[in-house]
Amino acid sequence: MAIRACVFDAYGTLFDVAAAARIAAQEPGREAMAETWPRIAEIWRLKQLQYTWLRATADTHCDFWDVTQNGLDYALESTGMADPELRERLLQLYWELAAYPEVPPMLATLKEAGLNTAILSNGSPPMLKGAVDNAGIGHLLDAVLSVESVGVFKPHRSVYDLVGKEFGTAPGEVLFVSSNCWDACFGAHYGFRVAWANRAGEPLDTLPGRPDHILSDLTTIPDIARS
Ligand code: LAC
Repeated sequence: MAIRACVFDAYGTLFDVAAAARIAAQEPGREAMAETWPRIAEIWRLKQLQYTWLRATADTHCDFWDVTQNGLDYALESTGMADPELRERLLQLYWELAAYPEVPPMLATLKEAGLNTAILSNGSPPMLKGAVDNAGIGHLLDAVLSVESVGVFKPHRSVYDLVGKEFGTAPGEVLFVSSNCWDACFGAHYGFRVAWANRAGEPLDTLPGRPDHILSDLTTIPDIARS
């Protein structure tokens, strides 16, 4: 079945989530972060995601900006870095995360090939607009789909259903791309063709579904979509 739409997870896949802590650590007066920033970034991300899974399971949805703040509070507290000014700065940087360098040319190639392109993300519409505008990739995306329209986080099936509703595609006509292995696995279980962007060389999670492709970045996505 030919691929008609390429759909991307946002945070960690198109946008570099570690950039917020990395950039903050380089700013004057933040020498104390020189060693701790990778741990802050890692705990922030893990807690943010854990809270999404817990809230989806317990049917207590809130928006992704809330869990992003809650995860950051935990990360700062657990690394001994709790500080209102730093918190504010990290949240500001999260709002304007940079896209990975290969993202704009990769999306442009997909559009030239006549494929539909979209984001499918836990992010709230304002967060996604902030990141997309900051990266200057809005003109390369046909849709920005947020879980807010179904009120539950990934990997709930109703989130993956948003793609077919948008493009009229069967799951097998969609190449879904995520850097989150759990998202890649459940996307594959749903029936998407899946590429896992495994930038950090992590082991494969044992979950329902297996990605069709494991990549170190997104440069080969257009070749995969056309093959
Ligand atoms: C997202 C998170 C899971 O963008 O990275 O949906």
